[in-house]
Amino acid sequence: MITRREATRLIGTAAAATLLPAGTEDIFGAAASSGMLTRAIPSTGEKLPVIGLGSAVTFDVRSGPIKPLEEVLSLFVKRGGKIIDTSPMYGQAESVIGNLATKLRLHNSLFVATKVWTNGKQEGLAMMDRSFSRLQTQKIDLMQVHNLVDIDSQMGSVRDLKSKGRIRYTGITHSEARGFGEVEKAMRTHKPDFVQINYSLVERGAAQRILPLAHDMRMGVIVNRPLGGGAVLKTISSKPLPPWAAEFDCHSWPQFLLKWILAHPAVTCVIPATNNPQHLEDNMAAGLGRLPDAKTRERMASLFVGFS
Ligand SMILES: NC(=O)c1ccc[n+]([C@@H]2O[C@H](COP(=O)([O-])OP(=O)(O)OC[C@H]3O[C@@H](n4cnc5c(N)ncnc54)[C@H](OP(=O)(O)O)[C@@H]3O)[C@@H](O)[C@H]2O)c1
Repeated sequence: MITRREATRLIGTAAAATLLPAGTEDIFGAAASSGMLTRAIPSTGEKLPVIGLGSAVTFDVRSGPIKPLEEVLSLFVKRGGKIIDTSPMYGQAESVIGNLATKLRLHNSLFVATKVWTNGKQEGLAMMDRSFSRLQTQKIDLMQVHNLVDIDSQMGSVRDLKSKGRIRYTGITHSEARGFGEVEKAMRTHKPDFVQINYSLVERGAAQRILPLAHDMRMGVIVNRPLGGGAVLKTISSKPLPPWAAEFDCHSWPQFLLKWILAHPAVTCVIPATNNPQHLEDNMAAGLGRLPDAKTRERMASLFVGFS
């Protein structure tokens, strides 16, 4: 665990004062010099590797062949990854993850996060039942209410499943700035273990209220759309990486984006999505080595003009 003083060094005095009130133990985990950085889930202290894996589009086999996905999932675990995020909204993704986890015997190595995304109590219970079956597991690590859909009803069922030991953690998700007000309200009302939100160099809004609130409420933060959906990489990949990126062990633009997020002290992990094994390797390396300090973070942001 790093101290408030170290966080101040990393993110600057003003930011640390906002995010880390005096006497509050921060949420950075031990960063083993040879392995992936981990962060503690605030509600339990359980450690999660900082690089996770998304599955929207990429793990829906209707979008491509399954063989590269087998390699992606296998490499993900080999490189120290654990949390994989999915949803019944993502076509075949839950079934693909379940099938591959069984085939590769990865169930015990993964922390599986899925979602409930429907209206009505019975419909929600039926959807979650299907997720257990598609993911081929008796226990789901994290069940999130997708985009806050029918949250009051669904969160009651999710909490109930947690009390029965079928779900380990509760969560809520969103990925658009126009929903941030409702996300904040849901965080205060339902007090989930995790909030999943979009945050990146090209979508910075969550840093205003959601990330500080998550820190104050001791809530885990899973960052979705960490590469801004991928479009920005196409624009910047023709530009050379600044040489000073090597000062925080960054060797590619995807790592540049991911390390910028991970240097925020409220963030537990990022979940970039890919179905490309080379991209997976690249992304996993963002969880190794040093992270940028506050001044460097500002310098990084200044390269992405016009985004907020
Ligand atoms: N409301 C919600 O709950 C919500 C909303 C949005 C997202 N999510 C979750 O968050 C995950 C991540 O968000 P996202 O998938 O929208 O966006 P993202 O992870 O920011 O971007 C994914 C895109 O980036 C590309 N990419 C990944 N690594 C790359 C690399 N190293 N080099 C070049 N391109 C790379 C991928 O293409 P390749 O496959 O070609 O690598 C893919 O097109 C989702 O998959 C989902 O699990 C949840």
